[in-house]
Amino acid sequence: MSTDMADEQRNKQAVEINDDWPGYSVELFNYPEHYQGDLECVYIPHGVIMNRIECLARDILEDIGQDDMMVLCVLKGGYKFCCDLVESIKAQSRSTNSSLTTRVEFIRLKSYLNDQSTEDMQIIGPEDLSVLKGKILISSQAIVDTGKTMRALLQHVNSFQPKLVKVAGLLVKRLPQSAASLPDYVGFVIPNRFVVGYALDYNEYFRDLNHICVISEMGKQKYKV
Ligand code: HPA
Ligand code: MG
Repeated sequence: MSTDMADEQRNKQAVEINDDWPGYSVELFNYPEHYQGDLECVYIPHGVIMNRIECLARDILEDIGQDDMMVLCVLKGGYKFCCDLVESIKAQSRSTNSSLTTRVEFIRLKSYLNDQSTEDMQIIGPEDLSVLKGKILISSQAIVDTGKTMRALLQHVNSFQPKLVKVAGLLVKRLPQSAASLPDYVGFVIPNRFVVGYALDYNEYFRDLNHICVISEMGKQKYKV
């Protein structure tokens, strides 16, 4: 296999979490005490997330490591992923003495109430992203499920005329619709379950949990609005 082909295949690879993956017992892990009883299992431990992000950073650097990079952080759920991704890109580019620069911009989206997607995805600022013009952009999003958010966001971002846009998604839910629009860099492909932690929320709760977890019925009831 040529190197090009190997690269291409590796870039397409994501860690697949199967539908029957039960997760780890929460008792095996350290997590904030105020969430006791609110979690069904630890789905992806924090250390595993971090290692996977290093792989995504490596792939991104291999593809576009020579240029200056703008990273768009999709808030609020993407703030940890964005931060850890940028740190890993910086660390790996330092170790190769590259002169890459990174700059982060933010955009805020909202579409979920409880564990259900609402019809209207709101883009809540900033209005003006004209700094993206002519730039190489990595849009970093914590989760892609229907792909609706990703497509709407891409359309919005493209209107500011960046030179190149690539999407990095930490989690992609395995849905029939999502295959049509996969991010360029995917951390984990997961079953269609509602997950929290690592900045992903349920009505603003659980962002302060480091692991990606599945919420329990008790947790859902407790934080329902
Ligand atoms: N968890 C939290 N937020 C989300 C999810 C999820 O599983 N899917 C879309 N937004
Ligand atoms: Mg949310």
